[in-house]
Formats: sequence, C-alpha cells, structure tokens
Amino acid sequence: MAQCKCQYMLFLVCCTIASVCIYLSLLDTRGQEYKQHAQWRHFVPSDIDVQRPKPCTCEKCAYKKGLSNWFDERFDPGVNPLLTISNAFLYNAVKKWWLNLQGLHKESNVDAIMTKLFEVVPNTDPYQSKNETQCRRCAIVGNSGNLKYSSYGAKIDSHDFVMRMNRATTSGFEKDVGNKSTHYFMYPESAHHLPPGVHFVLIPFKPLDMEWIVSALTTGNIKFTYVRVVSKIHLDQDKVMILNPAFLKYIHDNWTNHHGKYPSTGMIAILFALHICEEVSVFGFGADRKGSWHHYWENNKHAGAFQKTGVHDAKFEMEIIRKLVEEGKITFYNETNVKY
Ligand code: C5P
Repeated sequence: MAQCKCQYMLFLVCCTIASVCIYLSLLDTRGQEYKQHAQWRHFVPSDIDVQRPKPCTCEKCAYKKGLSNWFDERFDPGVNPLLTISNAFLYNAVKKWWLNLQGLHKESNVDAIMTKLFEVVPNTDPYQSKNETQCRRCAIVGNSGNLKYSSYGAKIDSHDFVMRMNRATTSGFEKDVGNKSTHYFMYPESAHHLPPGVHFVLIPFKPLDMEWIVSALTTGNIKFTYVRVVSKIHLDQDKVMILNPAFLKYIHDNWTNHHGKYPSTGMIAILFALHICEEVSVFGFGADRKGSWHHYWENNKHAGAFQKTGVHDAKFEMEIIRKLVEEGKITFYNETNVKY
C-alpha cells in the first residue's frame, strides 16, 4: 500500500516537472523567435499582450463585451488591424501562413521589405489614440449589384466613415451608393488613384504588395505582379495605411474559420470597422434577389467574379454577416428599395 502511494507521488512529481518544462520551453521559443529579429528588438510588438479595451461612447457599441458569447469568443481587441513599426515583427506562424497564401514557402526578406515600407508610408495608427468622446459611425460599402436602385446614397453618406473597396466607383451611382469616401481597401491588382484626403488601405496579400506601394509612390518600377498593375499611383501619401498580415490571419482563424483560402476584401473591411468603429452599417453585400453576384456598375448578365474566385467562401461569409446582424453587432442594409 505504502509502495503504491509512493509510486503515485512520484508520478505526480514527474507530471508537474514535465508540465513546467513544456511551459518554459514554449515561452523560450516565443522569446527566441522575437530575439532572432534583432532589427525589431527595440520595438514593442503591440499584438502580443497589449489589450486595447476602448471605452464605449455611443448608446451601443459593436465591440462591447458581454452581450454576445458568439461574438466575444471571436473578437480579439488586442489584434491591431494596422501595421506600424511597433507591430511589424511577424511571428513565424503568421509569416508562414501569409507567405503560403501565394505559394511562397521560402523565408523571404519580409523584414527588409518592411523597413523600406516605413521609409515611404506613415508609421502612424490614428485609431490607437482614440478620442474618447467620439462615437464613430461607419458605413462599409460592398460592391454588390443589390445596391442598384436602392437609393441608399444619402444614408451611406451620413456616416462618419464611408469605406469602399477595389474598383468601386461612385460617379453616376450617387443616388444608390453616395459620393463620400473616407477609406478605400485595395491591393495592387485592384488599385486606382484616389482624391486627396481619402485613406488608401492596402491589403497586403504578399510581400510584393508592400514593395509595390513603395514603388508606386516613388520610382514606379513595379509594373507587373501576376497581372499589369498601376505603376505610379496618385493619392495622399500621408493617408496610406497597411493592413497587418496578423490581422488577416486572425480573421481567417477566428471569423471565417478557415473557410476559403483567405477572407474577401469585404469581410476584411467589415472586421476592420468592428475594430475601429462604434457603430457599423453594412451595404452592398450578397447576391441580388435574382441570385446574381454582379457588381452594381455591371449589367447583371456579367455575374460577378466575386463568388467565382474560388479563394473565398461567399456562402460562409454571408453566414457570418447574418450572425453579426442577429447578435446586434452590425446593421445590414439589403435591397428592400429595389424595383425591378
Ligand atoms: O468583387 P469585389 O471583391 O471587388 O467586391 C468587394 C467586396 O464586396 C467583396 O469582397 C465581397 O465581400 C462584397 N461583394 C458581395 N456581393 C457581390 C459583390 C461583392 O458581397 N455581389
């Protein structure tokens, strides 16, 4: 009996020692990974431990905790949507996933690219130092054909921020989509010139996208990625923002749950808004009532490319949007005004 007790105690001691060793080695791996990147050592990686609880200054705030378990399980206020020097160190898991998006397996010179990047684009994150008295209302405008004949223009423009994406044009469609734009989410292959004052939010799907923005604002050397791209872009250089690859992975892990290869521009814009806005209104997402996924500026015979890209899961993303509405986190505008 005594021998049995002794063996049991020994077993417990061994288990405890093993657990402590595993824990310490995990900590060490993380520390080593950080130390390897000497050039970033003096910067505090803000997406490790720093939580950014924002005070809710509206009647109701999208990010407020305790109102939806489903939302709280997924929403991480500590992940910063924007890339700045202070969070430009990418953990191996993020770097590996990000490089793999375009089938790049070899360690590329990401750190050198980022160093060059911040010589040209601003190293600022205006949403970190939030004005506490502000109640920021944001409209996210997707490119769905269901906006056509919607008459949502004035409603969209009444928001503080109006976020548009890719090739969205307002000219000629003002009644339905408005004409105010504060942010445009784009990548090199969808990029176009912007008027002064509008934020260009680059979604970097590959390291070349970061090299491209540097080139597009300086020498104009990069003219081709996997298609021809605009070589010199005209926009307000002070307004350029770069999305953090860690934020893209967070959406893929926590929100789209690995459905699709990576989240769509629209999904990324909605999540960006949920992190920086108090109220989020969503327009122009989904098929129209005839089931067509075209863009609002296209004839619906040209069923839109979005659903067919094969890299996004349009159905699953619409399910997340539906759930966000159900949980009271966003307001969704469908095509109730459409007259066929
Ligand atoms: O087609 P594009 O990617 O430029 O559209 C921008 C975003 O608008 C998409 O990523 C998608 O989230 C949304 N969209 C949609 N339904 C459509 C077209 C686009 O939900 N018919």
